[in-house]
Amino acid sequence: MTDSSPAKTVLVCRNKTCSAQGSAKVLAAFEAGAPEGVAVKRSGCIGQCGSGPMVLVEPEKTWYSQVQPGDVSEIVSRHLVGDRPVMRKLYPLFHPKETSIKGWLIVSGILLGLLLLMFGMLFGQTVYF
Ligand code: FES
Repeated sequence: MTDSSPAKTVLVCRNKTCSAQGSAKVLAAFEAGAPEGVAVKRSGCIGQCGSGPMVLVEPEKTWYSQVQPGDVSEIVSRHLVGDRPVMRKLYPLFHPKETSIKGWLIVSGILLGLLLLMFGMLFGQTVYF
């Protein structure tokens, strides 16, 4: 017995708002470029109007926003084939960017350094008065 269900399904919203934002060409690009075993379907509104064209990849529920036809080949090669989401196109409402602790440490260090410099300058001025 073989399982004929696709490994992944790409839903491209073709409702009113996403259509006005160009989802027909996005859908056509996915239909032309989807690898074997990936189903591409047009969908009705998926509830995120205004951020489209919206694309939802299932079963992992990866949301892409403002997808343009030129983005499709990257989503196909990186995500549908390589199983790595295309970070720059992820829908930020459902996939917020992770803040790195390293970044926070660098910013905190710079702010602390500036604060110490200011105190040093103030202290230095008061010594000479
Ligand atoms: S019209 Fe596309 S998400 Fe609503």
